[in-house]
Order: sequence, then structure tokens, then C-alpha cells
Amino acid sequence: MAILETDNRPQAGANFTALIGEESQWTDRRIFLDEEIYQLELDQIFRRCWLFVAHESQIPEPGDFVSSYMGEDSVLIVRQADQSIVVLINTCPHRGNRVCHAESGKVRSFICNYHGWSFGRDGKFLGAHQQDAYDASRDFCQDRGQLNMPSAARVDSYKGLVFAIFDPDAPSLQDYLGDFCWYLDALLDNDEGGTEFFPGCYKYLVETNWKTPVENTSGDALHAGWTHASGPEALFGRAVAPDKGEHSYHVNQNGHCWQFNLDYPLGNAAALGEKRVLNYLRERNDQVVERLGEVRAKIMNAISCILIFPNLGILPGSMNFRVYHPRGPNKIEVHSWGLVNQNAPPDVKEAYRKGGMITFGPAGIFELDDGENWEFVNRASRGQQARRAPLYLGVGLGSEIEDANIPGHVSQGQMNEANQRSFFRHWADMMAAEDWTQVPGK
Ligand code: FES
Ligand code: FE
Repeated sequence: MAILETDNRPQAGANFTALIGEESQWTDRRIFLDEEIYQLELDQIFRRCWLFVAHESQIPEPGDFVSSYMGEDSVLIVRQADQSIVVLINTCPHRGNRVCHAESGKVRSFICNYHGWSFGRDGKFLGAHQQDAYDASRDFCQDRGQLNMPSAARVDSYKGLVFAIFDPDAPSLQDYLGDFCWYLDALLDNDEGGTEFFPGCYKYLVETNWKTPVENTSGDALHAGWTHASGPEALFGRAVAPDKGEHSYHVNQNGHCWQFNLDYPLGNAAALGEKRVLNYLRERNDQVVERLGEVRAKIMNAISCILIFPNLGILPGSMNFRVYHPRGPNKIEVHSWGLVNQNAPPDVKEAYRKGGMITFGPAGIFELDDGENWEFVNRASRGQQARRAPLYLGVGLGSEIEDANIPGHVSQGQMNEANQRSFFRHWADMMAAEDWTQVPGK
């Protein structure tokens, strides 16, 4: 394969397909390294897509807040008195200081450290230390709205998951998630009590580009039996289940991806190594089948992984949620939580919490395997010649099928790179589109 040649300038309207190949089976490494492309991603993707910011259970009461990021923007997700949620950009409109340094808590108002401006829970300017000095100036408060903390354009929730967006012209959250609402229900709506996050959040830095873990989470079954071979050996004395292929699928739509294997419906849950979890799932199986049907009852815990475009990764079964926040082209900040049914018995919740720590916590047996590979993917690609050699992504080309029981675009076979290709196709479309009307629905 010759080095991909392109005279693209990294700007909206450019042909980004040239950087991923016509069938997105070859990717140019510069999309993982180039500062100009990265800056354009912040504008074309992180400004214009719905981004996961919190679970509603983290902020149940008025004044409760958690901090997060949207792209590189620090944000505060704050529950209001009327139970609505506001997402504020965590910066002061006076000199730009960070307003809130806490990661979570309960507030009546926010006060900036620098000159003492204060803001309501909704970000509205309330007053300032030495207010008289401001009042005496000719134009202070002429347009009081300009003194408020800036905020996301829209905030919406899907069954407990809170998303926010900066682009006021984007589709609704429901349209943005499309058929993936049907899939997400397997995790979020398999019990009438809904779900909650465990308290607390793991946060850690990895020196890699944000798209490296994202394409892994979109469906990289190829690495599981090799990268993670030692983990199951140590935990269970045997390797992970081999691919049967017949009931393994890659499903994608609009950049969202789910890879699952229906032959191992308890696969990911079993990897937690907790009998209490498996007993809980077996006891509830009939009830879940009745509520969601056979397919979704199987995929909720199967050997599988999910990507909600652009940077929310989910591991069904182990119920791990993680966001890969970009920190420049060569660094990410991972935020990771555990999800559990609110009505699950306390001992089952504790088993999920412990199993989640052992497997996908920052020092977890599987998480460490991945992190090391992701860092060396980035380091080994930075060389002046290495960065010009394209990366292969063609496994499973031509494996698309129709299946009336499985919404979205379906490819058969667990060992497949169909989801990665679909992710990069959507990435290229988003990068090139001047606005949402130019983003092809697919
Ligand atoms: Fe916040 Fe001055 S920077 S009050
Ligand atoms: Fe992995």
C-alpha cells in the first residue's frame, strides 16, 4: 500500500475521505498526530456532537453538581430547583478564572476566587465583592446577560444519561442516538427501577490520541484474546471464549457502534469473576426477556463493547462507562464509572463495584493491558517516516448482512473491523461538513 497522498488542508469542506481511504480500510496516521487536525476536531466534532456529561443519579437534588469536560472545555453539570439540569462552562466572565475547583458537591451559588464575582446555580451573575465600584462605572450591567457564566446550548437526558451540546442547530438527542436508543435500553431499561452510577469517578491520563481508545471500544474483538490473554488465565485458569462467528455482529449507525456475540450472553459479566452477579442475572433473565425480547436480553451482558460517537465507551456486562476526553493530539483524560440497576440488592451492587475495580479500574487487570498498547501506538507513530505509513483496517470487508431482528447496519463476525471503518467514515463526514445539513445520515 502506497503512502496516502493528500493535499487536503485541515479545514471544513476538505476531503477527509482521502485520509481514511475510500472504504476506510486504510487510515493515515496524521489524523492521530496533527495539531491542526486536532484543533479542527474540537470545532467540527466536539462542539457539534451531543457529549455525555453525567448520570442523573449523580445529581439527584437541587444544587448538586459534578464537573466534567466537553472537548477541552471544563463544565459544571448542575441540578436546578425545578429539577432541570444546566451545563455551565467553568470560566468566569470577568477575567476568565476557573470558577469552581471542586469535582462534585452541593451549592447555593458559585463564587470566583479572583475578584469575588458570584453566580447562581444557573450561572446568572448575582453580584461582586466591592459591587459599588462596578455600579459607579458607566456601562456596567447594561447587558446583564453578558455577565453570566457561559453555558451549553442544550441539555437533554436519555433514561438517566445526561448529554449536552454547544451547537444549537444540531438534531435532537433522540435523533442523534437514533436506533441506538433501542440498544441502550438493554443497559438502561432492563428493570423498572432504572439505573445509577456508583459514587465517585476514576480519572487518569493516557498518552495517546482520543481516537485510539475510541476505535478499540467500537468493536476491537481482535485484540481481546491476545492483549488480554493473561487476565482470564489468572482469574479463571483459561483463555477467553473463542469466536464462533455465526452469532457475532458488528452494528453501527451514524458513528455509534456495538459489537456483540450472542453465543456468550454472560460473557462480559462472567469476566467480573463474581458469582453473585451471575446469579442475579440468571434469576432475572425471564423478566428481562419479557421486557426487552431475546436479542436485547442477550446483548446486555454479552462479550461486547459500545461506542456512542464521539467519545463515550461502554462495556456491557461489566457495566463500565468511560469518556475519553481529548487533551491535545497526544493525550487523553479518561473518566470512568460503574453502572448498576437501582433495585439491585446491596450485595450484588458491591459485587459489581469490586469486579469493576479489579477488571477495568485504572489498575484493573484488563485496563492496564490496553493503556500500554495505546501509549505505544502513539509513540511509535510519531517518527517522521512512521507517520507516513498508513494503518490497515480491512478485516471483514464485504461481511454486511440484513437481519430484521437487529437494527442499524449489520456485519457478521466477531473478528471484524466494520465498526472501526464506520467510525472513521462518520469522523470524515463530520470533519468535512460545514453544518449539520451536510452530514449524511447513515
Ligand atoms: Fe472571576 Fe475576576 S476573574 S471575579
Ligand atoms: Fe481491551
